[in-house]
Amino acid sequence: MKAVRLLEYGGQLVFNDVPTPTIARDEILVKIKSTAVNHLDLVEASGTARQILPIDLPWIPGHEFSGVVEQIGSDVAAYAPGDAVFGTTGSVPGSGPGGMGAYAEYLAVKPAAIARKPSNLSFEEAASVPVASQTAWQGLFTHGHLEKGQTILIHGGAGAVGAYAVQLASHAGATVIATASGDDEAYLNSIGASRVIDYREAQFEKVLREKVDVVFDLIGGDTQKRSFLVLKEGGHLVATTQPVSPEETTKHRVSGAMMRLAPSADMLGRIARLLEEGTIRPDVATVYALQDAAQAWKDIAGNLPGVHGMSPSGPGAARRRSHGKIVLRVA
Ligand SMILES: NC(=O)c1ccc[n+]([C@@H]2O[C@H](COP(=O)([O-])OP(=O)(O)OC[C@H]3O[C@@H](n4cnc5c(N)ncnc54)[C@H](OP(=O)(O)O)[C@@H]3O)[C@@H](O)[C@H]2O)c1
Repeated sequence: MKAVRLLEYGGQLVFNDVPTPTIARDEILVKIKSTAVNHLDLVEASGTARQILPIDLPWIPGHEFSGVVEQIGSDVAAYAPGDAVFGTTGSVPGSGPGGMGAYAEYLAVKPAAIARKPSNLSFEEAASVPVASQTAWQGLFTHGHLEKGQTILIHGGAGAVGAYAVQLASHAGATVIATASGDDEAYLNSIGASRVIDYREAQFEKVLREKVDVVFDLIGGDTQKRSFLVLKEGGHLVATTQPVSPEETTKHRVSGAMMRLAPSADMLGRIARLLEEGTIRPDVATVYALQDAAQAWKDIAGNLPGVHGMSPSGPGAARRRSHGKIVLRVA
């Protein structure tokens, strides 16, 4: 089969033939239709975080996909060949060693990480959903304990994870405040944010008049530090990019934790139903062909200066829309 691989840390992506995976009795072989690009792909490939995010080289990137079941192992009862599915790959950090990525024509996966593709979504849209939506779900409900009637501040609300967080929090009956670029205000209002603070123009802790129950921090750094000033006592700070200071949480009498996505078929199935009924929607910015993965990485690198040696001013960056996922069409 054809696949995109990284042969060495910081190296170029190559597109060529590799052996098609074989499946174990408890696995499913999926013919991949689309996969999506995550920051994590670039960070892992750069090698800058290899102590905590090691990869086996040569490495096939890609933590999420949509596709069609090609073959099932003898122990698999829940799916049959021909089923349209989507999900995360075994290569999501924490899923165990050696999982293959989805920048390829075929993938071996366990049923525990997949669900049926929502029928109203294209394969491109479906591939953009699993990582961002499950990160948002877990951040809000598992770690943030968000409840109806509470107020949440979401930093980076127009990003891939942030847009699901805004939609899911609003659907859960919370009041949603988001920080984002001013250009994304109308978009964020349209998906459920009641207030948008332009992070380039204002400091959220200076303009917020009331404290919030939960902060979902998708940015880190100074944004995280200043978040303690707007959290109610007993509130929760959930971070996705860096650990939360225990000294600060004690000082401000709040709880705080950095989460790590733990995908589940049950959670993805619930998200699939919300997508199918139109309660939440995906956001795809650009679709590239699989063999153009290197260009897609340049496109996303604008948000990650210095990673993988790419400059945000490259040709891809110029075309970047302000929000939405970058998807690779495989077949
Ligand atoms: N721990 C986990 O399990 C986990 C899982 C998934 C993702 N993540 C991480 O979570 C982060 C967010 O992921 P993503 O996929 O949602 O990223 P993304 O799609 O690139 O979104 C980032 C968003 O943040 C906005 N932004 C940048 N600086 C900001 C600031 N100071 N204040 C408010 N908004 C700001 C950007 O807007 P502009 O482009 O307009 O500036 C963009 O809309 C990434 O670092 C990712 O690696 C962690």
